[in-house]
Amino acid sequence: MFVSLEGPDGVGKTTQAALLAERLRAMGLEVVQCREPGGTELGERVRAVLLDPQVTMGDRAEALLFAAARAEITQEVIAPAVERGAWVVCDRFIDSSLVYQGIARGIGIEPILDVSLFATGGVLPARTLVLHGVDRRDDEPDRMEAAGADFHARVAAGFIELAALEPERIRLVDARGAQDEVAGRIWDALEGLHP
Ligand code: TYD
Repeated sequence: MFVSLEGPDGVGKTTQAALLAERLRAMGLEVVQCREPGGTELGERVRAVLLDPQVTMGDRAEALLFAAARAEITQEVIAPAVERGAWVVCDRFIDSSLVYQGIARGIGIEPILDVSLFATGGVLPARTLVLHGVDRRDDEPDRMEAAGADFHARVAAGFIELAALEPERIRLVDARGAQDEVAGRIWDALEGLHP
C-alpha cells in the first residue's frame, strides 16, 4: 500500500509520516518510509542542487529535476516495496510537483502531471493526505522556502484546489492541534485502506 503525505512547508508532515510508520510497524507490517526529493543516491544529490540557494534555475529545469529524483525513487524503492506487499509512507510525491511547479510556478497542472507520470511509469499513491492550517517553519530557508510569501500563499491554496480535483485519492487533514490529534485524523483519513 502506497500513501503520501503532502502540504506546504512547515506543516508537520515529517513528524506525522514517522508517527504513521510507527503505528503501522506496531501492527507487524513492513513499512518503507521515504521522502522526496531524495531517498536514493541520485535523489539526494539532485535534492542538494534543488534546495541550494546558490544555484539559479529556470522553472522547467526545476520541474524536470524533481521528476528525475521521483523516477529514481519510484524504480529503486517504491515500486519494489509495493510489489512485495509492504506499506510505503512517502513524505511528498507527485502532488508537490503539481502544486509547487504546476500551480505556484505557473507551468500548469497538465504538463507537470504528464512529466510526473512519465517519471513514475504511472505509479500514484493509493491515498494522499494533505496537511494544512499551520506553519511551523523555524529554520534557515532553503531555495524553495526562500521563494517569497506570494509563492507560498499560492502553494497553500494550490493544495486545497488539487484536493478538490481528486477527492477520492486526496484527503485534506487539519494539522492544527496536538501531534496525536493530527495523527488520529490521518488514521481516519485512511478509511478503506486500513490494515
Ligand atoms: P523539504 O526540506 O523536504 O521540505 P519539507 O520538509 O517542507 O517537505 O524540501 C523540499 C522542498 O521542495 C519543499 O519546499 C517543497 C519542494 N518540492 C517541490 O517544489 N516540488 C516537488 O515535486 C517536491 C517533491 C518538493
